[in-house]
Amino acid sequence: MSDPQQFNFDLLINRQRTGSIKWEKYNPDVIPMWVADMEFAVAPDIITAIKQRLEHPILGYTSATDELITATTDYLTHRHDWNIDPQWLSWVPGVVPAVAACTNMIEPHEEVLVFTPVYHPLLIIPNKYSRPRVDVPLSYTEERWTIDFDAFEKAITKRSRLLLLCSPHNPVGTMFTAQELRRVVEICAEHNILIVSDEIHCDLILHENKKHLPTGLIADELGAHVITLMSPSKTFNLAGANCSFAIIPDPELRKQFDAQCLYTIPIMPTLSYTATQAAYTHGWQWHQQLIEHLRGNLTYLREQIASIPHLWMDNTEATYLAWINTAHLPVEDANDFMLKAGVGLSPGAQFGDGSYQRLNFACSRAQLAMGVDRIRTAVDSLG
Ligand SMILES: Cc1ncc(COP(=O)(O)O)c(C=O)c1O
Repeated sequence: MSDPQQFNFDLLINRQRTGSIKWEKYNPDVIPMWVADMEFAVAPDIITAIKQRLEHPILGYTSATDELITATTDYLTHRHDWNIDPQWLSWVPGVVPAVAACTNMIEPHEEVLVFTPVYHPLLIIPNKYSRPRVDVPLSYTEERWTIDFDAFEKAITKRSRLLLLCSPHNPVGTMFTAQELRRVVEICAEHNILIVSDEIHCDLILHENKKHLPTGLIADELGAHVITLMSPSKTFNLAGANCSFAIIPDPELRKQFDAQCLYTIPIMPTLSYTATQAAYTHGWQWHQQLIEHLRGNLTYLREQIASIPHLWMDNTEATYLAWINTAHLPVEDANDFMLKAGVGLSPGAQFGDGSYQRLNFACSRAQLAMGVDRIRTAVDSLG
């Protein structure tokens, strides 16, 4: 659609009075660096596609067109080496409601396993639907957060039925290796545990030499059951467009999932299909430049945080979310301290580890530098 072009990820875009959840949370003096959407303009080709769709005056109930299905299966083939049968796709207006639907598919007494800390809805959903939740803490080994397989196997009981996996992992930024994922799949297959793999961050790979590996691809090879959840929403900054899909190879499981969603989750909005198709068809030049910008921001942030006393930043291989250890900061409430400094971060306690704060660095370098300066000044003032 478009000629080679340069996109500007350093443009400061005013989001005040757009109803932005991120920007409405604090007073305008605070730089919001919490919820996971980005401060970047959506790729022009996606905006054009939405405008073109609006030239047709009816926005009725919509389903996926053949063109969208092809764009999505091509995306999975070319980006993730995963050839899927188009029948495996179920469209949903969000990954979180899809996780809720999967949790509802198991019996109330059956247990849900989660690797903690983790994106908080994966903690909240089992509680909300009264499924016993079993937390398996990740371990920090060789400068990276990863799965403690001994703890994982010990946590499994006869009632374990579901694993809510986040891969790449939010908030710790780990990309699990093929070996780790294979082991997870094998253990779950052995104990008849369904894996729901939330892979919403799969196109935000910042490690130069790593590639995302879908859990479902490994499971296909091993004949295990995985429901993979993906979306263009993080990749293309379409969080408010509500577009996601589940990939469920097993027909019986897919039937159960679709039945669970029917009448409880709305179908995807018309313009979300349009945005998804445009993103997967025309968005990759924009995406390549996005990744370059995010890698630059990550390097900058890591260097800066390393030079601020009391703070430590863990390795982030994927996502645009930094996991910053504030345990040694001599303050009572690190999140409140940062807020008073003028930076709105996500408290680690929300994800299951109060020693950390999560910082969203998907913004212009100028905004990131301003946030870092505020943090540095406030920490320096502690003496
Ligand atoms: C791991 C993870 N899953 C799901 C979501 C949200 O998904 P959705 O907005 O499609 O419900 C987020 C948003 O931050 C996330 O980080």
